[in-house]
Parts: sequence; structure tokens; C-alpha cells
Amino acid sequence: MKKIKISPSILSADFSNLRNEIKRLQTGGADLIHVDVMDGHFVPNLTIGPPVISALRKYTKVPFDVHLMISPVHKYIKDYALAGADIITIHPEATKNLSSSIKLIKKLKKKVGLSLNPNTKIDVIKKYLKSIDLVLIMSVYPGFGGQKFIVRTLDKIKKLNKIKNEKSLKFDIEVDGGINFQNSKDVINAGANILVSGTTIFKDNNGNIKKNIKKLKLA
Ligand code: DX5
Ligand code: ZN
Repeated sequence: MKKIKISPSILSADFSNLRNEIKRLQTGGADLIHVDVMDGHFVPNLTIGPPVISALRKYTKVPFDVHLMISPVHKYIKDYALAGADIITIHPEATKNLSSSIKLIKKLKKKVGLSLNPNTKIDVIKKYLKSIDLVLIMSVYPGFGGQKFIVRTLDKIKKLNKIKNEKSLKFDIEVDGGINFQNSKDVINAGANILVSGTTIFKDNNGNIKKNIKKLKLA
């Protein structure tokens, strides 16, 4: 069986106590830490930026999986790399020149992720699949935690996984939004190997992170 990773989103953490929340995630067995960066322009919500990421960086060795929902993204990529991002994921709609943004992330020695909104087709990123590390499939419209999983996303995951297998490509398939104990099995069976989760990780079972990570992994 393939290894499943969980990337808890700190969007649902206690923002007044992020240092401790990061430590709880590490102790609870998080494989990655998902950081949702929003600009109130590309998405209708505002969250955190590079100073907060760099302040947290020293409190854990767990890789930071930084999801940039900001536009134009290109001029800020370096700031997130310097702040301590390990994976930098961008949306193709948020940059004028996707190939140069990908090149920049690589030059900064970070892993490259490309994210697809529910209405964005795989075709938009197809030619880059050979050269990136991860595809982040949005299973909600980005902007807020706690939304309902869009079921038709499962077909997109399957389609992407088929392309990956046919061409023997290596990128990770990460899925983000509305993942819970009821649908995580479907998401994994469709081909995802990294699941993002905010609400389920921090709110279910009274916020028992270890238990929630295990349950999402079906372990
Ligand atoms: C949505 C964010 C997601 C979201 C996940 O814009 O990218 O990471 O917060 O949270 P839940 O698991 O609550 O849907
Ligand atoms: Zn996200």
C-alpha cells in the first residue's frame, strides 16, 4: 500500500497560540504542516504572511507546506522561501508567467506545487507535470476552512492519477478542502497520497490530533 501523508492546515488552529499548536502537530505525527496564505484579493479572506511563518519555523522540523492563495504571486515567492517554506504551491491563475514562477521556486531550492481550483482543468498544468513535485487539487473553492467537500473532485483526482501512472511520473497528489473521516477513503482510493485537513484535525475528537491523523490515514 502507498504511504499516505497528512498535512494539517493551521487555518483551523488556535491563532493566539500557534507556537504550541505547531508542537502539538509534531507530537501528533503530522507529516507536513499546511500553511494557508490568503491575500483578500485572489481569495476573499486574509490570513498570515512571511513574518509569522519565519517566527514558527524554529519550533518544528516538520516541513512547511505553504499554499499561496495570493496574486500576483511571483514577486512574493522569494519571501516565502526565505521565511522557511519547504513546499511552495501556487495557483496558475495567480502568475503571468507560470514557467518562470516554477523556475524561481526551483532556483530557491524549494519543492514546487501547482494548485487546481475546482473549475480549473488539468490541461492548464499538463505540460509542467514532468517538472514539478506536487499537484494540489482543491476540493472546495479556496478561501475558508470548514466547507463541504465537492464530490466531483474525485473524478479529477482519478484522471490526474491515471496520467501520472501512464507516464510514470513522480509528483505527489495532494487534496485540500472538506476532508473528513467519511470521505478520506474515497480520496485515497482515487489516487491522493497527501491529505490536507483543518477542521477534522483540530476540531474532531476534542482536537485529539494523533487520533485524527491516524483515522484520516485509515491506519
Ligand atoms: C481553503 C484552504 C484549506 C482549508 C482546509 O482555502 O486551502 O486548506 O482550510 O480546511 P478544512 O479541512 O476545514 O476544509
Ligand atoms: Zn490550503
